Amino acid sequence: MRDSRDILSQAPVVPVLAIENLDHAIPLARALVDGGIPVLEVTLRTPAGLPAIRAISEAVPDAIVGAGTVINARDFEAAVDAGSRFVVTPGLTQGILDAAADSSVPLIPGVATVSELMRALDHGIDCLKFFPAEASGGAAALKAFAGPFPNVDFCPTGGIGLHNIDDYLALRSVITVGGSWLTPSALLAAEDWAGVTKLAREAVDHVTAFRT
Ligand code: 3PG
Repeated sequence: MRDSRDILSQAPVVPVLAIENLDHAIPLARALVDGGIPVLEVTLRTPAGLPAIRAISEAVPDAIVGAGTVINARDFEAAVDAGSRFVVTPGLTQGILDAAADSSVPLIPGVATVSELMRALDHGIDCLKFFPAEASGGAAALKAFAGPFPNVDFCPTGGIGLHNIDDYLALRSVITVGGSWLTPSALLAAEDWAGVTKLAREAVDHVTAFRT
């Protein structure tokens, strides 16, 4: 079982997916993997979320699929049962912490404040989602977190796209960046998988160029 840092460090970016149509799950995952993005966060915001995680984990072996928008212990268990390799939450609750403590599947909890960050550290979790990133102070806030907490790493998500990704990539604490911009609803509605691969490649090329 890989830990969350290990998983996130394989992700140039993390697409945050809200899959409406279960038939889209496998071609969408393949399109993203073909574009160089293996780590996928499938949110439980839609009824297709859990079966999509199961379908992708069975049919797309090169994908590392995790669950997003997990908001309670019941969701956590269902996500793990469906084959999630990691679990992402928008916030941090005792129920989620307890569920994660009993599981070997890594939790990447969302935090937006220093107090939430400290609560995660109390539970031994130091690789976090910063959410909602732009609305919570953006890259300037994350930069400030690094003063007292230089060993905490982040995947910021929320309001990020190619227009502002560099602000985050410039920070040493940022392992990768997440967002929904890689899967616009128009491309999904048109089942334009080549278009998804193209957007994925564009993001991977951007991150690679920034980091070299
Ligand atoms: C998330 O759950 O991480 C966000 O909803 C994704 O944010 P975005 O749609 O602004 O990229």
